[in-house]
Amino acid sequence: MNEDNKVELVYNSQNNQELGENYNLWAKDYERELEEKYGYLAPLPAIELLVKYVPKPAKILDAGAGTGLIGELLNQRGYNNIEGIDLSLGMLEEARSKNVYNGLYQMVLGESLDFATDSFDAIISVGTFTYNHAPSNSFDELIRITKPSGYIIFILRLDFYEQSDFKAKMSALEEFGKWKLVEISEASKCFAKTEPDVYVKAWVYQV
Ligand SMILES: C[S@@+](CC[C@H](N)C(=O)[O-])C[C@H]1O[C@@H](n2cnc3c(N)ncnc32)[C@H](O)[C@@H]1O
Repeated sequence: MNEDNKVELVYNSQNNQELGENYNLWAKDYERELEEKYGYLAPLPAIELLVKYVPKPAKILDAGAGTGLIGELLNQRGYNNIEGIDLSLGMLEEARSKNVYNGLYQMVLGESLDFATDSFDAIISVGTFTYNHAPSNSFDELIRITKPSGYIIFILRLDFYEQSDFKAKMSALEEFGKWKLVEISEASKCFAKTEPDVYVKAWVYQV
């Protein structure tokens, strides 16, 4: 494995402990590297769809907040009631320095979340549902903590969507009436500078 390729490194993490350690080590350089080496475009379709469907004021959870890129983008679009969770304390520390979150907590997607039922008007997640990251059963808890008629908006790489169990889980949740598909964005590039074949889409579900 190429240790210089941080994306590959985190994708190859063997468990949550290793994943958290890899992100802790990457936290200080994450944004600069994503910008300089990759040209990170993935958040854009999720932000646009959230702005389309979620009125202000709304209480929003950034699931897998990382260093707070999504919180910053939402703040620029006029949202100011945002909380975030992440498993990496190093990433959360970076996010805290942005001063755009009302609360940042260490929690693990795929496990029970320490929020009351029906807590949020919307949940957004970018870059967190991917190889060896948060599992598809994370949606069960995210649905529980979203208010009825609230939105869950997330990005998936198309290669991951085709290869993982996410497609089946997302359909099963719809069949069981847990959420309803509202919109899927056009495919767009994940990175501007590298990996030209990696495309993402944003999914919007209503609980
Ligand atoms: C690629 S980063 C994306 C961060 C931010 N959303 C962005 O777009 O820049 C993925 C983030 O998800 C977090 N993460 C991965 N698996 C997780 C899990 N099971 N529970 C909580 N956070 C997780 C990582 O610690 C990391 O900060």
